[in-house]
Amino acid sequence: MALINDHYLKLKAGYLFPEIGRRVNSFCEENPSAAVIKLGIGDVTEPLPAAIREAMHAAIDEMGNRETFRGYGPEQGYAFLREAIAKHDFQSRGVDISADEIFVSDGSKCDTGNILDIFGADNKVAVTDPVYPVYVDTNVMTGRTGAADESGRYAGLTYLPVTAENDFVPALPESPVDLIYLCYPNNPTGTVATKETLKQWVDYAKANGSIILFDAAYEAFITDPEIPHSIYEIEGAKEVAIEFRSFSKNAGFTGTRCAFTVVPKQLMGKTASGEPAEIHSLWNRRHCTKFNGVSYIIQKGTEAAYSEQGKQQIKELITFYLENARLLREGLESVGISVYGGVNAPYVWLKTPGESTSWDFFDELLQKAHLVGTPGSGFGASGEGYFRLSAFNSRDNINEAVTRFQKVVS
Ligand code: MLT
Repeated sequence: MALINDHYLKLKAGYLFPEIGRRVNSFCEENPSAAVIKLGIGDVTEPLPAAIREAMHAAIDEMGNRETFRGYGPEQGYAFLREAIAKHDFQSRGVDISADEIFVSDGSKCDTGNILDIFGADNKVAVTDPVYPVYVDTNVMTGRTGAADESGRYAGLTYLPVTAENDFVPALPESPVDLIYLCYPNNPTGTVATKETLKQWVDYAKANGSIILFDAAYEAFITDPEIPHSIYEIEGAKEVAIEFRSFSKNAGFTGTRCAFTVVPKQLMGKTASGEPAEIHSLWNRRHCTKFNGVSYIIQKGTEAAYSEQGKQQIKELITFYLENARLLREGLESVGISVYGGVNAPYVWLKTPGESTSWDFFDELLQKAHLVGTPGSGFGASGEGYFRLSAFNSRDNINEAVTRFQKVVS
């Protein structure tokens, strides 16, 4: 009989969001008339910007014509998109990233998991706690973590708590680690990292030969001009960091799928025998072997995100969701809830009222207010006693959610 990958058996029962989905579905079956408002998973609700849709329509017409039809594209992405990304997301900020350091893909969730293919099994891995669960689960799947304890922490991972007590700034690891996941603006806490904080991490990585896996999927929500959008704004970061970006949350692509990963040419790891090895060429090899590229139609739509009209329409989307975040934040604060994030990020992170655990509060909100959020403990042991609300929803639903939330906690 075929052997399975036993590491999968070490995973906690279900991935967080499907688990929430299961609980909500069972509530809805029992309460079919309840008008449930979902502020759980960070899934966009507003339509794709017109500039992007128009570019996709034009690309579909090209695909309908023998002269302009395209089959397989370059696995790393078409040059038109890689060049637009390099120019608008990096070079325009004075960051020297070139088009051939960009790998277009179908999502940052996939890339942050897939990147583990090119790293050795013996690397020591650090994650913040709470953390986007994909970083942990994909390390469990690849056998780097050992088993979980009762709180859900894996023996082989280094956890860096981020709570109100340390202003959500993780301390540097006490013993050396090789791979460090950082996500800013942060999912789930909605907090950001200053240049000084990121510089400390870059210095740490240089001193310890570590690589930072920097997830910047929410960078478009940064409103504070002092906050870096890319880790490469920090001097020396190209030698120690891979950056993940996504069009899901800014351009509304959660269902459309397009993202990219930046792997600088000078980033090095080492072989088992201690020889230096280029990470860029390894990732290129992996990408070309296991991925056939994002469709031409989607890449043409994505390119339009960088047109003048596209940029303006995306800015309007971001402003809309950030206004939702403000309404959530202020509505909750007005009834005495401690609230974090939601200024440079689409997530509002709150302390659960009284002594409620995260899951107790989840159940209470669902039962009494027909509201869905995400329990903080689902993101890690240090998220216990916290709760996340997503600002991705219609304005009417956000206003209604605030009113219902206030009734439950008042
Ligand atoms: C979240 O809610 O944390 C995100 O939607 C998850 C994701 O982007 O995969």
